[in-house]
Amino acid sequence: MSVKFIADKTVSSPVEIIDVTEDPEYERFLYRCILHSKNAWTRASYRKHKLRREYLEFVIPRGFRKKVLFYKGDHVGMIEYVPAEVSDYPIIGDNVIVMNCIWVHKRGQGHNFGKRLIAHMMEDKKEAAGFATLGLENHWTAWMKKREMEWLGFKSVKSVKLMHKRKHEGRCFTIHLMWMPANENAKPPTWDESRLLEGTHFCEYHPLYHGRYGCEGLKEIFEK
Ligand SMILES: CC(C)(COP(=O)(O)OP(=O)(O)OC[C@H]1O[C@@H](n2cnc3c(N)ncnc32)[C@H](O)[C@@H]1OP(=O)(O)O)[C@@H](O)C(=O)NCCC(=O)NCCS
Repeated sequence: MSVKFIADKTVSSPVEIIDVTEDPEYERFLYRCILHSKNAWTRASYRKHKLRREYLEFVIPRGFRKKVLFYKGDHVGMIEYVPAEVSDYPIIGDNVIVMNCIWVHKRGQGHNFGKRLIAHMMEDKKEAAGFATLGLENHWTAWMKKREMEWLGFKSVKSVKLMHKRKHEGRCFTIHLMWMPANENAKPPTWDESRLLEGTHFCEYHPLYHGRYGCEGLKEIFEK
């Protein structure tokens, strides 16, 4: 038996990881971050942001996956990943899977759900040479922190110090390219630094999202 509605609490085990990528029943999880959702929000409570919809239409047929972890029927965690070639992060590498995002809600912490979601991704993409993501240091938001990515097993292999052009001018933060090889011979990825300066487009809640702080008309929102 699978989970039908969050409010139903109909689960077959206390922990279930559900693939929400292509099941219309779970479409809301593709558009709304679990951070912004209440325990029993309804199917009508999300809008299909245009950039997100276009991104999903492009990447879903090309290997994108989003998984949601339910604990006792409550959506407390999620992970989203995609092959590097079609990732919105400018990460370059052979047979590399990019983790767009992982999130475990405070009410779900202390159960190793973060590591469980990572293990799930690795099992799902077991032919991958390795897994990459971005980690932030000294950014003004609380998200995608380098140290939290390290807790999950990633290590920094490259970094760049940047400033936002319109927000907190003069304040520097660092973006790290975080890497977790699947085997010891795997070649670490690299990145396209000029694309990195443009920020990200795939999710309006992401800390590096391009389209806020009056940056809509700019190509590059960060500078070195
Ligand atoms: C990073 C995150 C996913 C970890 O989830 P979690 O379920 O708490 O992690 P786990 O319980 O699986 O723990 C993973 C490791 O981190 C360590 N850890 C967890 N919390 C820690 C803390 N506060 N201090 C130090 N280490 C910690 C654990 O000890 C564990 O290591 P171990 O297996 O060697 O003991 C979670 O904190 C999170 O969602 N952070 C926000 C992520 C984010 O910014 N997402 C993007 C939103 S745009």
